[in-house]
Amino acid sequence: MKWTAGRIKALKGVQKFATLTAYDALTGSLVDGAEIPLVLVGDSLGMTVLGYETTLPVSMDEMLHHTSAVARGVEHALVVADMPFMSYQPSTEMALENAGRFIKEAGADAVKIEGGALRTELIEALVGNGIPVLGHIGLTPQSIKETGGYKVQGKTSEQARRLMDDAMAVEQAGAFALVLECVPAELGELITKALKIPTIGIGAGAGCDAQVLVITDMLGISGKFVPKFVKKYADLNPVIQAALSAYKQEVEEGIYPSGEHTY
Ligand code: KIV
Repeated sequence: MKWTAGRIKALKGVQKFATLTAYDALTGSLVDGAEIPLVLVGDSLGMTVLGYETTLPVSMDEMLHHTSAVARGVEHALVVADMPFMSYQPSTEMALENAGRFIKEAGADAVKIEGGALRTELIEALVGNGIPVLGHIGLTPQSIKETGGYKVQGKTSEQARRLMDDAMAVEQAGAFALVLECVPAELGELITKALKIPTIGIGAGAGCDAQVLVITDMLGISGKFVPKFVKKYADLNPVIQAALSAYKQEVEEGIYPSGEHTY
């Protein structure tokens, strides 16, 4: 059965759940095959697969292209498209138009936007027009120029109070779930207890209702630095490198293709 935003919301207090990012039909189908209920086409794709330094350059066209691919690979999971930088910030009209493109053109089931109380009106407009919204507060990578780095958020009591207010505002506005990125575990748990919608933590501790990880990080594909909160469930980079090197060597030495691989 296909997951809906309503079914994800109803998991609150009933079942903890895992979510992962996916960037194409292949990763989408792998995540779906693991019976993970929510797949996020994160704008992290800018850094993980498109080679950008940050998520800021990611365009609507790139997100539409990758979201369509993920949607083609997924049968059951809810497909959430991340709205890229400046696709929703300038105006509610622009946000509605772009979010609508994810649903109509790319086959997404919902969209994610970064920001708390500031986004209340926008979330209400999207939800009111039939587009489910996943909120995202704490470390919000699209604000990296303003925040000055990928740092843990909500460490002071004032910041923690503001994040709690943001979380309540996002829930009030109608989001079906909320990503909490890089906040102290105690704050993650406090916000989770205060909300009626599921919190999806990434570096926000075990007290959240769900967890999300970037698929290339948890599979160890890139061979690059991963944040402390990432657990590598596989270390594929050396495995892939070894396979590629073996192939190169066998071609150079005339070992591949052998009779077995020849018509
Ligand atoms: O872009 C992304 O992958 C994300 C997750 C890390 C939550 O926003």
